[in-house]
Amino acid sequence: MRKISIFGATGSIGQNTIDLINRNPEAYDIVALTGGANIERLAQDARRLNAGIAVTAHEDKLDDLRAALDGSGVEVAAGATALIEAAARKSDWVMSAIVGAAGLPPGLEALKQGATLALANKETLVCAGSLVMQTAQNHNARLLPVDSEHSAVFQALVGEDMATVERIVITASGGAFRDWPIADLAGATVEQASSHPNWNMGQRITIDSASMFNKALEVIETKEFFGVSPDQIEVVVHPESIVHALVGFDDGAVMAHMGAPDMRHAIGYALHWPDRRHLPVDRLNLAKLGQLRFIEPDETRYPALSLARQVMERGGLAGAVFNAAKERALDHFIARHIGFLAMADMVAAVLDRFDAENGLIDAPMTLDNIQQTDHLARKWVDEAVTQRAG
Ligand SMILES: NC(=O)c1ccc[n+]([C@@H]2O[C@H](COP(=O)([O-])OP(=O)(O)OC[C@H]3O[C@@H](n4cnc5c(N)ncnc54)[C@H](OP(=O)(O)O)[C@@H]3O)[C@@H](O)[C@H]2O)c1
Repeated sequence: MRKISIFGATGSIGQNTIDLINRNPEAYDIVALTGGANIERLAQDARRLNAGIAVTAHEDKLDDLRAALDGSGVEVAAGATALIEAAARKSDWVMSAIVGAAGLPPGLEALKQGATLALANKETLVCAGSLVMQTAQNHNARLLPVDSEHSAVFQALVGEDMATVERIVITASGGAFRDWPIADLAGATVEQASSHPNWNMGQRITIDSASMFNKALEVIETKEFFGVSPDQIEVVVHPESIVHALVGFDDGAVMAHMGAPDMRHAIGYALHWPDRRHLPVDRLNLAKLGQLRFIEPDETRYPALSLARQVMERGGLAGAVFNAAKERALDHFIARHIGFLAMADMVAAVLDRFDAENGLIDAPMTLDNIQQTDHLARKWVDEAVTQRAG
């Protein structure tokens, strides 16, 4: 039986992973399941899948989790250290599907025990690209992409020589506000930003799709995962979300990966890799679709894309700054402290302030330095929000 763990089991990616596992449960031994606030779902899945341990990120929820799993034989634990300890338990395959930079420490720990890390948590590579790749190499561990675009690129590259790759094009739906007049974006509400035209995802990534911060993170993730240079990466708006990515080679050929927008494809590919197995996703009917559109992204509408270029050129810990500032600005947008467009303004201001005031951005890429940078970036966003309110 394959030993597997799912970090972020109660979320959208986690639940899709469990859906696939439930179709063949006797093939898997579930070492650890983790969640956050949704104790009921975590306990229900841990009980049904007979997990070794269930961990909630929130220490104040430990008693609830213990009560919900009473008599089940499933161990329980809580807090950030418990997540890392769970990741140190021997697993063959680990799904990294916590949302945000909180996914980085358990992901690194899983790599240290030599597991295959299925990476939905793009923040891991944005904050700590070279550290993560080096850790995987040192411990003979493997990273497999789960983001649909990166899974698509990975699949298009099977059997290819990276030296022949000219460019990687990742597609973007354009999010909830693709067709809105730019003048209306300042007034966009949390509810409006939380509805995605094609994908059914967690709230944070859905809002990040509307602002294109999600695509900005994916551009940086592409650079780190595939080791290409920033000028080899392109973004194209593709409203139908059928083509997930394209790889252009130096003989002029372009390999496109297509499929219905269902994350169980990319999760299943990572779960069964290097094999392909039957997956319960819709099959494409191109004639029924009729047409596929591709549009140049407008960087005035999506300033996050130019910020991603700035981050890649800046290097150092700029990815960790970018991600932390973005996460905190998103918290404030969700809490209705700031408007939709203020998120990008704040991230840009924090990046500039790091350059002007703090040498930490050029410190070596260690987990400790990343976490310090992350903490400072969030603090500066909070200060900027307070100043605006004052
Ligand atoms: N959803 C998609 O289709 C999709 C596609 C590609 C990539 N991704 C990436 O996959 C990751 C997960 O996305 P998602 O949409 O599945 O998110 P989600 O639905 O919001 O789920 C996030 C998971 O992380 C847990 N969590 C939240 N805060 C945490 C913390 N501080 N420490 C530990 N665990 C915490 C949540 O627990 P509770 O819910 O119990 O609080 C939940 O299990 C993100 O990095 C996202 O960018 C998602």
